Amino acid sequence: MELTGALRRFFVFLSEQQALRRWVTRNGWANRAARRFVAGETLEEACDAAARLNAQGKAVTLNLLGERTTRPEDAQAAAVLYRKVLEEIHRRSLHADLAVKLTQLGLDLSPKLAEENLDGICTQARRLGGFVWIDMEASRYVEATLEVYRNLRASGHGPDTVGVALQAYLYRSERDLEDLLRLGTRIRLVKGAYAEPPHIAYPRKADVDRAYVRLLERLLRQGYRPAIATHDERILAHARSFAEAHGIPLDRFEFQMLYGVRRDLQARVVQEGGRLRVYVPFGPDWYPYFMRRLGERPANAAFLLRSLVQESPGGFGRPSGVE
Ligand code: FDA
Repeated sequence: MELTGALRRFFVFLSEQQALRRWVTRNGWANRAARRFVAGETLEEACDAAARLNAQGKAVTLNLLGERTTRPEDAQAAAVLYRKVLEEIHRRSLHADLAVKLTQLGLDLSPKLAEENLDGICTQARRLGGFVWIDMEASRYVEATLEVYRNLRASGHGPDTVGVALQAYLYRSERDLEDLLRLGTRIRLVKGAYAEPPHIAYPRKADVDRAYVRLLERLLRQGYRPAIATHDERILAHARSFAEAHGIPLDRFEFQMLYGVRRDLQARVVQEGGRLRVYVPFGPDWYPYFMRRLGERPANAAFLLRSLVQESPGGFGRPSGVE
């Protein structure tokens, strides 16, 4: 198994360990470390971060952290908060949209509940001129997620209100992409962040990257306002040259990157006239998201282990070379 794949699997495993979660989230150094990838715990902190990014010419996607909700009242509370986020985006005239996870809105409890919660958020988005991205989670949720998306479209929410992420590492995504293109869908293309078995997803990174490029070319040619969500410099360069070679203007698609990741690259995209959106997560429930980010890069994981050993208060504050 490749080292990068093994590392990701290990951190995805850690992200699901409740005892470790309790221990890590109580630790001061871990809280400071998470701040690299998470804008803060409150909506106000997230909106302040969004305003700062907007001032640098970057659009934003706000995400209230949370997933795999086990109580209906928590799912409903998340939906209420999301409507509040939309109001705040509108009130502060932020250049920002939203991203939600369906398991946060109750998908594990019932797809109907998640759909009703998302419907309420989309109705609010429509009223305020906002937009909602549905994040894609582990493969066991993909079918239900796409079903919820299709139902929302059938009930009248248009492609300028709701879009969905697709993961290049899944074999099924080529077919899903074609179905979604037929519906005229805004798609955010990502590589995929979960630990999937080899009969479901490409186990080798090189194959994931190749699949990403195939889907990317299809999206650039046929997609409706697609989002190329990656920090992979080679893929970014390919997207630009492919667009140029096929006469696709730079404003027909956007690049998306994660808060705190490759800020140098983020600045470069803006400098070169590309459209960039930064995914800004916030909220107290940061543990699984943080663990997935750590597992994406050996240097991040090494930094965590060093901090664990040293338990140094300044530990993660300014990790040199974590990007
Ligand atoms: P890759 O992993 O090949 O990394 C390329 C380079 O980027 C690395 O060499 C490194 O320099 C840098 N880099 C990447 N991750 C880093 C990190 N954590 N810290 C520091 N540097 C890092 N996934 C999913 O399954 N469902 C979803 O809905 C989403 N949504 C989403 C939205 C947005 C806007 C982005 C950018 C990503 C996602 N993802 C996601 C995550 C995605 O699947 C993937 O895990 C990460 O983007 C990392 O992969 P890259 O495409 O960056 O490539």
